Amino acid sequence: MLKIIISWIGLLLIVCVPLVENRLTSNLRNGVNGGVDCATCSVLLGIVDHLTIVYNESATHALEQLCSFLPSEYKVYCLAAVDFLGPYIIDGFIKGDNPDVICHSLKFCKDEPDQGKCRIYPSKSPILFTERVLNFRQRHPSIDLHINDPKICEIPGIKEICKILENIFNNHKPAIDFDQDRFGTEPTLRGSSWRGKDCNDFSSSSRPGAQVLNGDSVVDHNCNGIYGMNPTSGKPWEEELCNETQRMGIAVLGDSISAHFHIPEQWLDAKQLSATVFEHLTFILENELDWPQLSGTTGHINVSWPNIDGPTRSVYARLFELDHCNHRDYQNIAVNGARSGSMLDIMKSLSRSPKNDVPLLVMYSLVGNDVCNGHPDTIDHMTTVEEMKKNVLTTLEYLDTVLPKGSHVLTTGLANGSLLYDLLHDRIHPFGRVGTPISYTQIYDYLSCLQISPCNGWMTSNATLRALTTQRAMELSAAVRNVTYTYKPMQYDIEYLDFPFNDVIQEWVAQGGEPWQLIESVDGFHINQYGHATVSDVLWKWLQTNKPQWLPPLNLHNADIERVFKDQGGY
Ligand SMILES: *[C@@H]1O[C@H](CO)[C@@H](O)[C@H](O)[C@H]1NC(C)=O
Ligand SMILES: *[C@@H]1O[C@H](CO)[C@@H](O)[C@H](O)[C@H]1NC(C)=O
Ligand SMILES: *[C@@H]1O[C@H](CO)[C@@H](O)[C@H](O)[C@H]1NC(C)=O
Ligand SMILES: *[C@@H]1O[C@H](CO)[C@@H](O)[C@H](O)[C@H]1NC(C)=O
Ligand SMILES: *[C@@H]1O[C@H](CO)[C@@H](O)[C@H](O)[C@H]1NC(C)=O
Ligand SMILES: *[C@@H]1O[C@H](CO)[C@@H](O)[C@H](O)[C@H]1NC(C)=O
Repeated sequence: MLKIIISWIGLLLIVCVPLVENRLTSNLRNGVNGGVDCATCSVLLGIVDHLTIVYNESATHALEQLCSFLPSEYKVYCLAAVDFLGPYIIDGFIKGDNPDVICHSLKFCKDEPDQGKCRIYPSKSPILFTERVLNFRQRHPSIDLHINDPKICEIPGIKEICKILENIFNNHKPAIDFDQDRFGTEPTLRGSSWRGKDCNDFSSSSRPGAQVLNGDSVVDHNCNGIYGMNPTSGKPWEEELCNETQRMGIAVLGDSISAHFHIPEQWLDAKQLSATVFEHLTFILENELDWPQLSGTTGHINVSWPNIDGPTRSVYARLFELDHCNHRDYQNIAVNGARSGSMLDIMKSLSRSPKNDVPLLVMYSLVGNDVCNGHPDTIDHMTTVEEMKKNVLTTLEYLDTVLPKGSHVLTTGLANGSLLYDLLHDRIHPFGRVGTPISYTQIYDYLSCLQISPCNGWMTSNATLRALTTQRAMELSAAVRNVTYTYKPMQYDIEYLDFPFNDVIQEWVAQGGEPWQLIESVDGFHINQYGHATVSDVLWKWLQTNKPQWLPPLNLHNADIERVFKDQGGY
């Protein structure tokens, strides 16, 4: 039963920037007029509607087809869910109702007094609910949606799944971690996609980033895949191959940008829907819709999944290229929706021992959520300059208690989100590529109307509001900068960098692209795979130019390491 909703919610998470950023993080917002449930219902039915257009088929077929795309273990549950809600939905489609109307009939959407009317499909005439909807509900007495305020997560069976999902989304340590050293052996659920894979999950002294013990002549304490004795020389390999370079790990304390939030656009575009695009659904959900393994800071693999269309280049991958002894020493401590305040808790899941580990390069990068929220009075809910200073200072002080001597910290400012609107507003959203075209502005305004926008201040057609939001972002960046240069760290040295989005755009244009191609097509808010790769290009150049002493020297033994240890145990 549980999996029903993984599949539904999987689809439903589609609208999921709001869901993930707001509902399942500390900033719980359900919105108005039905909020997240309304948006979820409308988008899902919109997709069904688009399938009927693309394949010239009935809504019944389209619903079944949608289920058939899901991984086999979910299919049967999906069909059960269709049994439950299907009659309503199909009845509506037969009558020619659009998703707005059907979702109002299902009571997932409402028109609350004084909250405006939220419609994803612009309608020429007002929706007449009264008699139609009453009739509609009477014809389906068996479906118990008579309660006035049904919630998708309260429908029997779905309830448990929602709980499980919340658990996944709220717990930022690996689920499988026997030795409790915060490094796991499975990729998802905050495992090796996020932090280097543990090479011994029964001993907390073996973990990525640990110092070498006894030359790692028997046990691979640092999990870099290099251990044992060289039989020819009689010396430990780690001593021979890693002695002349100083290892350096990397960690990022960040938000959904650093975690690399990405919803495959194929999930929303009826023309691209297929079984292949859902093949890795479970994996993707268990990673909170984030792709840290492909991110610009901690990315370490390329995947050939259809959901990803660009290469992985990252700061970690370059540290590894310079010195293979750094293998697996990465930690992506980034959480969707994180802001400077919630980071005070999140940072505690960073794992580093000042005494037993090697130095770490830490990026502190919170680029938006301190000014982004879904409140209608959005400005009143932004972090103030004073709060920002206090939060950043607390974080830097904490880092002094966990980082090994010789570590480095790079703080960044907030992004200039005004660019997003400028780049995207009149473009067609993937959801609106079939049937009635729907632009990003329409999506932004729909989410704002429901009060579930991840960022009212930037994702809005109100230019004044966008400018005010950017102004606050710049003030907060100045606060980060000020604290960075005021604080005197004991264990590390520190530098500040404005979030280099303009440089990233220039670099991308120089590589032959257009700026809008760097933005996630579904959410219109995050940077995509190309964006991540290009950010890492820019960061790396910046480090080489401004902080060459932070980067390890080239290890002349890399080729030997490859020869003796192959892929060093992989990821
Ligand atoms: C769609 O299907 C209907 C009935 O199955 C058929 O009459 C019609 O010609 C089809 N339209 C297109 C464009 O294929
Ligand atoms: C590596 O360093 C250790 C300690 O500094 C030293 O004893 C050893 O001889 C070095 N090994 C090599 C191969 O350079
Ligand atoms: C991914 O593939 C590209 C080439 O397509 C390569 O340049 C890059 O280094 C690879 N990234 C990783 C992390 O292996
Ligand atoms: C932010 O970006 C917009 C363009 O999208 C630009 O007009 C504005 O000057 C920028 N603001 C700052 C403070 O960089
Ligand atoms: C735009 O936003 C500003 C600042 O929040 C607000 O004062 C103004 O009323 C808004 N304009 C419209 C048309 O909503
Ligand atoms: C930080 O801000 C304080 C007070 O606003 C100011 O006195 C100080 O010069 C600033 N320091 C730096 C390094 O910007």
